[in-house]
Amino acid sequence: MTVTPTENGVRISDEATKATVEILNFGATITSWRILDQELLFLSKGSKLDGSRAVRGGIPLVFPRFGPPKGDHPATDSLPQHGFARSSTWELLGEVDENTVQFGLGPENLSEEYRKAWNYDFTLLYTVKLGKEALELSLEVENPGSEQFDFNVLFHTYFEVPEVEKVSVEGLNGLKYFNKVEGQFVTKEDKPVTFHGEVDRVYEATPSQIAVDYDGKPIYEVQTENLKDTVVWNPWEKGANSMSDFSPKEDFHKMVCVESGSVAEFVKLAPSKSWKATVTLKSLL
Ligand code: BG6
Repeated sequence: MTVTPTENGVRISDEATKATVEILNFGATITSWRILDQELLFLSKGSKLDGSRAVRGGIPLVFPRFGPPKGDHPATDSLPQHGFARSSTWELLGEVDENTVQFGLGPENLSEEYRKAWNYDFTLLYTVKLGKEALELSLEVENPGSEQFDFNVLFHTYFEVPEVEKVSVEGLNGLKYFNKVEGQFVTKEDKPVTFHGEVDRVYEATPSQIAVDYDGKPIYEVQTENLKDTVVWNPWEKGANSMSDFSPKEDFHKMVCVESGSVAEFVKLAPSKSWKATVTLKSLL
């Protein structure tokens, strides 16, 4: 395994398995994860990678709020959709070992605008470890200040798939979810999630293991520790058309977002406390 700097971030690679992961300093966004030279994460060809806006694909990090400000949570209502972590430049803290790197984000890394909108003391530590068939991602949130703060967090993972209409997400059957397309809660729907139109759902209290199946066979596994919820999203044609950085538009067929996080409720972090969560993505391809 080797860790090498790239123009705007870092790459970890393993010669033996031809596995690589590429991470930008901007957003600490993972933009590529490959095994045996096969790309496993979707990245829109129209995505900006120059720090001018959040990356459309890969794994952006959502913090400290999920979704658009709704006017019901003053502490985060001045922030843009999905918060500031994905559109701030993180500090590459360095190699933890030959297959692991760590990034940090604190108030000193935020723009004045974000700082004003969320004026808390905080430290985020993001650890990315490349395994042979897995990618292990850990996020630690620390509160070194004297005031409690609330946050949502989400690993906004865009998986690459050959055709989303052949995908099903397994492990969420029968669970309560908020259907963002229709603006209502759904309970006890006993069928796997499939994709034949726009899907935008926030599943609450989800199991710690979820699978993405293709043609009835598991191709990815998502394991979590200390994360409660799972967001499942595909924008379909209309959604793709509404995003200027989504191109070509028909590529919505090639992605499925299965996003692990804590978003239905805010996590509350008291002064001097810290919180940690881990997501392990496995490729079964
Ligand atoms: C998902 C949300 O997590 O992110 C969707 O559930 C949203 O509602 C999508 O459209 C993409 O958000 P953004 O801000 O990257 O366009």
